[in-house]
Amino acid sequence: MKICFATNNPKKIEEVSAALPSNIQLVSLKEIGCTEEIPETTPTIEGNSEQKAMYVYENYNENCFADDTGLEIEALGGEPGVHSAMYADKIVGSYRDSNENMKLVLKNLQEQAQKGNTDRSAQFKTVFTLVLDGEKHQFEGIIKGKIIEEPTGKDGFGYDPIFIPNGYEKTFAQMPLSEKNKISHRAIATRKLVEFLNKLNKV
Ligand code: IMP
Repeated sequence: MKICFATNNPKKIEEVSAALPSNIQLVSLKEIGCTEEIPETTPTIEGNSEQKAMYVYENYNENCFADDTGLEIEALGGEPGVHSAMYADKIVGSYRDSNENMKLVLKNLQEQAQKGNTDRSAQFKTVFTLVLDGEKHQFEGIIKGKIIEEPTGKDGFGYDPIFIPNGYEKTFAQMPLSEKNKISHRAIATRKLVEFLNKLNKV
């Protein structure tokens, strides 16, 4: 089957395509004629994921799924969470800049450490929303780990250089995509999506 993945992030497309069986082909937003920025204005990851998928379904009449992801850090009360993409924007005047976002996370964690809170545990949470013939279905993927002191590694994207998953000694940015894709939040959500489509005999 063909299905639109409602994202403009080439790294997300690369990860999800590599984790999909060959009988599911992704259609890009460009291919369906959607070139505008899709709104993400709700206060939750679940809400933004649904908002993006419904936007595409309602405006382009295409079956599709969207991903929304956040990094939730224990010592920061779950922040950056739903604000992950633009965490540093208001403070340093950047626009969705991953390096600035990571710097701010590390600075805020340092401040917490000075107050005695040295907990660096965190999780990535992804929520996929599939809209199939107007019906919504959500699939969640969570991976737990910790935030390290310095960005390390060149692969991946976003906050990957500062996140080490539990049970590993290296960051997501030090892993080849094939390794990140075995364990990541997005890989877990992708597996759930594929299982669901298989059950419906859609693939
Ligand atoms: P969004 O889901 O595109 O809104 O992403 C929110 C923020 O999380 C952005 O800053 C992304 O770069 C970051 N992000 C999303 N997925 C990942 C990931 O798999 N690893 C690291 N950062 C991510």
